[in-house]
Amino acid sequence: MNQRNVFDGSLTSDPDPSGVERSSNILFAGGSLRQVFSEIVGKSETMEAVLQTVGKIARSDAPVLIRGESGTGKELIAKALHRMSSRASRRLVSLNCSAIPENLLESELFGYVKGAFTGADKTRKGYFEEANGGTLFLDEIGDMPIALQAKLLRVLQEKQFVPIGSTEPRFADVRIITATNVDLDDAVGKQKFRSDLYYRLNVLPIALPPLRERKGDVRLLLDHTLNLFNQTHSLNNPCFFSNDAYLCLERYNWPGNVRELINLIERLVVMSGGGEIDILALPTEYKLIKAGASAKVVEPSFFFPEAAGLLPETLAVELLPANGLNLETYIEQLENTLIMQALERTGNNKNQAAKLLGLNRTTLVERIKKRKLVPLNAPSKEL
Ligand SMILES: Nc1ncnc2c1ncn2[C@@H]1O[C@H](COP(=O)(O)OP(=O)(O)O)[C@@H](O)[C@H]1O
Ligand SMILES: [Mg+2]
Repeated sequence: MNQRNVFDGSLTSDPDPSGVERSSNILFAGGSLRQVFSEIVGKSETMEAVLQTVGKIARSDAPVLIRGESGTGKELIAKALHRMSSRASRRLVSLNCSAIPENLLESELFGYVKGAFTGADKTRKGYFEEANGGTLFLDEIGDMPIALQAKLLRVLQEKQFVPIGSTEPRFADVRIITATNVDLDDAVGKQKFRSDLYYRLNVLPIALPPLRERKGDVRLLLDHTLNLFNQTHSLNNPCFFSNDAYLCLERYNWPGNVRELINLIERLVVMSGGGEIDILALPTEYKLIKAGASAKVVEPSFFFPEAAGLLPETLAVELLPANGLNLETYIEQLENTLIMQALERTGNNKNQAAKLLGLNRTTLVERIKKRKLVPLNAPSKEL
């Protein structure tokens, strides 16, 4: 199945002859690095460094190993490498090693001849042959079964492969790019990954940092993605983020990286149907921003005014995230925000704030001290 990637307009390919991605646009010819990378958003130092490396190594035929958590853009980088290479007019064939059952992986990679096994009623090319002259991108290489790793190593060393059921070796002129989100050093240590194959693949390493380590890119990605979805959904009244929504999203940790960000924004655009996307429109996990261990300030922008005094069933937002939450942390955070709101509203008057919260003054003061809460715009000496 081919899937159009809304985000970069490219096709994710399988080896079906009608569907394999053909990179007919050689973007690199005469173009600047920035042109080639135009679909790769990111101006943080780490991303700039990654793109520099990509520019340097794209023209080499040596294997590239891209590491990074899921959703950090490994496949995007693989595509950029291919398009900047001298192989750009040939195919980039992608295979996700974890998505194909172990017993099929070998025939997918090397192909088979008619009669090679029950059901092999015609000869079929494998990925190596499909990618001949181009690039073969092996995603999630860490999931490749150990027996197949030995075969892959042999192909890389000898530049030849033998389709299943055949005795005739075939030549493979293929540039290999691999990607992994598992720690291959660790896998080698645990003998789940062959060290010789690892060294063979890791000639040119690229490490993609998680989004939480390049927070500077979050706003760019938010704007870029929102723009794209505004266009895709042809909204008369385009969506835009409120400042508070930006704040929350910039502070969020993004465990699913750019993929999570794209999915969230599509959801927000579809659900809102246009206009401002405020903090209230964000799913709970995005607005529950914990002040860091050292941060003693909880900003009033993270308040949940709609939650105060309302019964859970009347809340406009669904509070329980799909993956669940830590109830203790959640409640503490909610309490903190309500205390902060009360202090803000009363100009840091503890008596009045305690009244607003239905607490006695001592309890409130104890809680403020224990949690080191310092309301913005309120003199801390009062605490
Ligand atoms: N820096 C980036 N700029 C723009 N889009 C990105 C960026 N990084 C990732 N994406 C997009 O995020 C999604 C996930 O990226 P992908 O390359 O599939 O990640 P991975 O292979 O690491 O899981 C894709 O739609 C991709 O186009
Ligand atoms: Mg991927």
